[in-house]
Amino acid sequence: MRTNQPQTIYLKDYKVPPFLVDHVDLRFELFEEGARVYNSMEIRRNPEAEPGQPLELDGEGLELEGLTLNGLPLADSDYEVTSGGLRIEKVSDSFTLGVVTWILPQENTRLEGLYKSSGMFCTQCEAEGFRWITYFPDRPDVMARFRTQVEADKARYPVLLSNGNDVESGDLEGGRHFVVWEDPFPKPCYLFALVAGDLVEKRDTFTTQSGRDIDLRMYVEPRNAEKCDHAIDSLKRSMRWDEQVYGREYDLDIFMIVAVDDFNMGAMENKGLNIFNSSCVLASPDTATDAAFQRIEAIVAHEYFHNWSGNRVTCRDWFQLSLKEGFTVFRDSQFSADMGSPTVKRIEDATLLRTAQFAEDSGPMAHPVRPDSYIEISNFYTLTVYEKGAEVVRMLHTLLGAENFRAGSDLYFNRHDGQAVTTDDFVKAMEDASGKDLTQFRRWYGQAGTPIVEVSDEYDADAKTYTLNVRQYIPPTPGQTEKLPQHIPFSLGLIGEHGEDLPLKLESGETDAPTERVLELTEAEHSFVFHDVSEQPVPSLLRGFSAPVKVRYPWTRDQLLFLMGHDSDGFNRWDAGQRLAVDVIQSLINQPQELTVDPRLVTAFRQLLSDSNLDQALVAKMLQLPSEAYLIELSEAADVQGIHKARTRVLNQLALQLRDELLACYRRNREEGPYEPTPEAIARRSVRNTALSWLMHINDEEARLLALQQFGQAGNMTDQSGALRALVNSDFEEDRTKALGDFYDQFSQDPQVVEQWFSIQAGSPRTGTLPAVETLLEHDAFDWKNPNKIRSVIGAFANQNLANFHATDGSGYRFLARHILALDSTNPQIAARLVAPLTRWRNYGDVYREGMKAALEQIHAKPDLSKDVYEVVHKSLV
Ligand code: ARG
Ligand code: ZN
Repeated sequence: MRTNQPQTIYLKDYKVPPFLVDHVDLRFELFEEGARVYNSMEIRRNPEAEPGQPLELDGEGLELEGLTLNGLPLADSDYEVTSGGLRIEKVSDSFTLGVVTWILPQENTRLEGLYKSSGMFCTQCEAEGFRWITYFPDRPDVMARFRTQVEADKARYPVLLSNGNDVESGDLEGGRHFVVWEDPFPKPCYLFALVAGDLVEKRDTFTTQSGRDIDLRMYVEPRNAEKCDHAIDSLKRSMRWDEQVYGREYDLDIFMIVAVDDFNMGAMENKGLNIFNSSCVLASPDTATDAAFQRIEAIVAHEYFHNWSGNRVTCRDWFQLSLKEGFTVFRDSQFSADMGSPTVKRIEDATLLRTAQFAEDSGPMAHPVRPDSYIEISNFYTLTVYEKGAEVVRMLHTLLGAENFRAGSDLYFNRHDGQAVTTDDFVKAMEDASGKDLTQFRRWYGQAGTPIVEVSDEYDADAKTYTLNVRQYIPPTPGQTEKLPQHIPFSLGLIGEHGEDLPLKLESGETDAPTERVLELTEAEHSFVFHDVSEQPVPSLLRGFSAPVKVRYPWTRDQLLFLMGHDSDGFNRWDAGQRLAVDVIQSLINQPQELTVDPRLVTAFRQLLSDSNLDQALVAKMLQLPSEAYLIELSEAADVQGIHKARTRVLNQLALQLRDELLACYRRNREEGPYEPTPEAIARRSVRNTALSWLMHINDEEARLLALQQFGQAGNMTDQSGALRALVNSDFEEDRTKALGDFYDQFSQDPQVVEQWFSIQAGSPRTGTLPAVETLLEHDAFDWKNPNKIRSVIGAFANQNLANFHATDGSGYRFLARHILALDSTNPQIAARLVAPLTRWRNYGDVYREGMKAALEQIHAKPDLSKDVYEVVHKSLV
């Protein structure tokens, strides 16, 4: 166990910064043995803070080499180096402080602050990484102008980058050179970035709506020179879209993107210098799947959109993280919807939310969109802050309407440009611009947990009225037992017996009544009466997933089939299919083998496979059975093996009974022409690869030949890896071994593809047995210092290969605990993320619970556990 209890930070303790920094002058001397950082800060007392406070700067892992106040060295007795920083008791109201630190980027395995990744220097400062570079008030409400000089060996590091504009450069003695960067926009230090390396540059330009030419530059290692086009195109689309939809124009003359291989997260929005995990930015048709192309477009957009929602207007403190993340995820999801199929994008977002965010919201780490406390802020880059936060913004958009929402967004950006603000400031701007009272709506930011909306109905044939009774409540979450009703936009329609949308008359005789309405739920219980309803309708509830809630209504299987075929809301057509499949799978858990799948489900899938008039993008989604993770989330005491077997049984029976339709569907959707990541082409590939995977599940001989052919002849990575995945999940052992070997030989030089190769194996119930996964960890291409490799083996095993991870002998849990313990010492952020699959042990059946808990206890027992891992493990056990 940790010897010292780490400190909890509370939102209620927030105080304005005692000192402000107006200007920072940084000079980095980069060497192979380390880096020297000269930091000169112009500091003044904050007139709004309590007077007389000492100066306290944050700093971690720094060797202090020099300290001057207004140019004069400080005596040892004038300052104190504390465990988390530097303290100077007596300072005047305004002064210049000079700090020289020596740091070791080449030994930085935490990947926070300045570190080396395959021969290049790079930084990650959000949330609290800057303190690993130099002493500084490392908090987002201290915003300074930065001037940064970077010096390094010219041959090894020809490219030297930082935020803003390059204003000066030149050669130095000993084969070294320098570049000076100036960022005219004041920013918090979490947005600081530096890159030095031997990189190739790809250039493009973008002309803004006001006619300014922006220099776009993308920097990658030479071997990746051919993988930049998609990111640059995505960037240009994002820049145009933000002008058109939000009226936001880019503000610097240069916009840079850099790809690095070792990165804890997806990407980072540093001002003018976005840094990306290679896997979230590099793509070519033969190495990246459709999913990767879409992910890259979304992440490039996300980081770009942060320039306004995050950089120009930033967070006052880290409790406000969703201010920038929730809003920016909402913006990127609107963008993706506009670039592709809005219904499909909505299905993807809702699937992630319902599977993973709902799980988080009902587990021991549940927290509000604006948390009240944390031990380690890195643990709060969560699905709740990002995805639920985006849903909250989306509900504002629904409640206000597009026009008022835009007015609110304009007011927010104008009112707070250059400031560090709170989620409440955001809501206030929306409120002021629209005139809508959002007092109750604000509860979405403060209450944790997923609201449950229970619906019952009555049809009165004589009165021709249809009544919906709606009740909402939120189950308790850690630290929050009593909850108040929330303001929920509840979109719905009523469907008549011929599949038509009925007019929704809230008053009898209402003319021109709409066929879809957004009801505003504000009370714990409501009754809504619809008039002039001449037949018993089927309700289509929470259309478009209008709020991040769980809807309970006792639909019959026949009603679900009806909705699947008739609902005018595409999202709800898909949702009805999911509910039906969930019901069928759940009813087969631990049931005798003779019990067969409801023939109505088979018929419904036959229809999907055969009707080529249907929107194929929607069909591609409807063909996906609910995941094991989602089925687990829906259970109270999850029987993982039972769920796995029941789901597999449904899949096998569907495949056996629909064999001919699957083959026909596969052939009909065969690829022609060059690769294009358009929604139509993506849908076609998805449908075809799903058909193939189902057929391979039942070890169909004809499908085997098709899979081998597709694997050998594929013109793109989606089809090649689709075939590989299908082979890996079949019983054709020789074929799969050969395909895995060939695939590796073909792509062994490409880390992004090797990561897919790892995760296909580690995530497969057939090839991802524990001994096989342990062998992958011994593979030459595996690297404990590279987060992507860890995620693609250990992460894929624990999050996707649930039948093996939850082996009833507890071996999967012990395996995970062992590696979390090792990683805790090298990269605590990554270690803490890996704890997630164990945290919800209370929601699993008896055979799992003890093993999961024991693994958590084993981790908890490590002396000097990092704050990151401690927080997750400790909260999971209490
Ligand atoms: N702001 C980044 C993004 O969402 C993520 C940074 C995550 N950093 C961290 N330490 N967790 O675009
Ligand atoms: Zn973000």
